[in-house]
Amino acid sequence: MVSRVGLIVLMAGLVGVVMAAKPVPPQATIAPEVVADYVHAVIEADRAVYTRHVVDRLSAKGVLTASEHWDVQNTLLLPAQFLNESARLVAKKEQGIRYRLVSLWPIYERNGPATEFERAGLKAVLKEPGKTFTGFVESGQRRFFQAIYADVAVSQACVGCHNTHPSSPRRDFKEKDVMGGIVITIPLSR
Ligand code: HEC
Repeated sequence: MVSRVGLIVLMAGLVGVVMAAKPVPPQATIAPEVVADYVHAVIEADRAVYTRHVVDRLSAKGVLTASEHWDVQNTLLLPAQFLNESARLVAKKEQGIRYRLVSLWPIYERNGPATEFERAGLKAVLKEPGKTFTGFVESGQRRFFQAIYADVAVSQACVGCHNTHPSSPRRDFKEKDVMGGIVITIPLSR
């Protein structure tokens, strides 16, 4: 004999199984801040793997170093250039998604904030590196979501190179300083 409570539990369990097996409804959407977090996680992981397992490893073994003019010097790309080159390929797909490394003290002017929103975001992540700065922006007829993540000097190498680069406008970076940010732009419609 199944008790009344037992029957209710059994039926609730069956309903649960049927509901769980249903396909995801087509209108299901992911919030843009979540998409930006996903994209950021991938960019950061690729950059870390390239830095640690390619650049650091090959230079420690004396095989090959990374340098800015890698194409003419036959060296490895700098991690910042690796990120930029990948971003260029992503932008070529014309899906509207873009990302770039920016700073209030950029080695190259092209890496400075492109808009007031980016400038405000860089200032905000400088104060609170753990908090992503987000907002909606418009360009032409299209609306985009933008997220700015702090880019921190995780090693002495970051500081050393930026403090001594001939084009760097700032020369007093210290380890753990926020050196800039990663701006991720996501289109809100296609
Ligand atoms: C060997 C030199 C070198 C090292 C090491 C280095 N960078 Fe850079 N970084 C550059 C150069 C050169 C650029 C400009 C790349 C370009 O736009 O072509 C750049 C660009 C950047 C930018 C964009 C703004 C700007 O200054 O143009 C940020 C932010 C940045 N780097 C942060 C970092 C961080 C954080 C690290 C350490 C994890 C780091 N960099 C390590 C040379 C270096």
